[in-house]
Amino acid sequence: TSTSTPFPPGFLWGGATAANQVEGAYAEGGKGLSIQDVMPRGIAGPPTEEPTEDNLKLVGIDFYHRYAEDIALLAGMGFRTFRFSIAWSRIFPRGNEAEPNEEGLAFYDRVLDECEKHGIEPLVTISHYETPLGLARTHDGWVSRAMIDHYARYARTLFERYGSRVRYWLTFNEINSVLHAPFMSGGIVTPKDQLSPTDLYQAVHHELVASALATKIAREVAPDAQIGCMLIAMPTYPLTPDPADALAVMRADHLNLAFGDVHCRGAYPGYFLRHLREQGVELEITAEDRETLRHTVDFVSFSYYMSLCESADPTVKAGAGNIMGGVPNPTLPASEWGWQIDPVGLRIVMNQFWERWQRPLFIVENGLGAKDELVEVDGVRTVVDDYRIAYLNDHLVQVGEAIADGVETLGYTTWGCIDLVSASTAQLSKRYGFVYVDRNDDGTGTLERYKKKSYDWYAEVIRTNGGSL
Ligand code: BG6
Repeated sequence: TSTSTPFPPGFLWGGATAANQVEGAYAEGGKGLSIQDVMPRGIAGPPTEEPTEDNLKLVGIDFYHRYAEDIALLAGMGFRTFRFSIAWSRIFPRGNEAEPNEEGLAFYDRVLDECEKHGIEPLVTISHYETPLGLARTHDGWVSRAMIDHYARYARTLFERYGSRVRYWLTFNEINSVLHAPFMSGGIVTPKDQLSPTDLYQAVHHELVASALATKIAREVAPDAQIGCMLIAMPTYPLTPDPADALAVMRADHLNLAFGDVHCRGAYPGYFLRHLREQGVELEITAEDRETLRHTVDFVSFSYYMSLCESADPTVKAGAGNIMGGVPNPTLPASEWGWQIDPVGLRIVMNQFWERWQRPLFIVENGLGAKDELVEVDGVRTVVDDYRIAYLNDHLVQVGEAIADGVETLGYTTWGCIDLVSASTAQLSKRYGFVYVDRNDDGTGTLERYKKKSYDWYAEVIRTNGGSL
């Protein structure tokens, strides 16, 4: 091992996936449909009435049948943690049943068995963009208050079943994304351009109450559980030194930070209430809601891929980006999908979150979506993904800097540690993994797994606790 590393002993190195992007088996084991089963184009196209064959998520990477082999591959890199989500519609197929589906629960017991076998600490997302389609269609998703009870019953079921085996839990993946992708993030069927601000912010409120309620329930039934919120971290810079641009940054930041503020402080910040007033929104907040919100989280987790600029000038155009597009930064390079690459932004946002909330951070997504080419090196099929190694190395160096700045950090999980179906575009060719999965955008491929060059690189990072960076 290396001599000096800023990473604390016990740092949780690992990788992350989501059920709908890996499992497939969309109609097996008693699973009901989720919104993802009718999203063949991700958020790049409209949902369909029924699942259609061109939807890569119906098969995913077949993790449902290959989980043991896949977890062994992750363990081969020395993973200390594995983030995965539970498919809500495996546990409550339509979402409104009184009793859970035992076959679904048993599947995640088997996944946890494999984690335990390899000494891997599970990190479980309760809801990762996979609302049961039944709830989306009957309630317009989180617009309806009824969702709080359905989610609470689901979360309680998970805490009761797995509470003794799972320590780290995330309530909602990227909870702030509901403002930008209401169907994927909030199961809201009403098209975004027809959704009133009142319905949209009421959905936000219901999710925030549900998240706090999950924390409250965990405190009762799974006292060892550590509950985290999960945000899209998107550091935003003013496009110019004009104070008007700095103010535009502040306002954009506020719309994201509000979600962390509620999770960590237990009440709505004044700037957010002002924003609602200016939108003409009067939220229905009950006295019980206010009490529930006071159950704050143990840690703050987030995804980080890129940063953005903001401008007060309405003629400046937005560019591509993870769920929320923003103004491109002229100083930064971008990925093939237009996501701007900014390792230093990760250090900045870690400092910002730590200073603001004083809760330990967990970086639960980071990575480069890129096209890979399977080649043969010394008779072995692999991918020479030096670009991915460079991206991850540069970002991890900045994580080390933030830790040296004093930011308490629990761990780091790369996104899509094994190739999976992308969320925004539903492609397999947008690959993030250390492990290549032979499946193409047209659905062809053997589903065989191959280790990429980055596999050995990451194993060395973990072995040296970051000393090799
Ligand atoms: C995050 C999501 O927004 O970004 C993941 O939590 C997603 O589900 C990841 O896969 C990367 O985005 P994409 O669109 O490249 O898959």
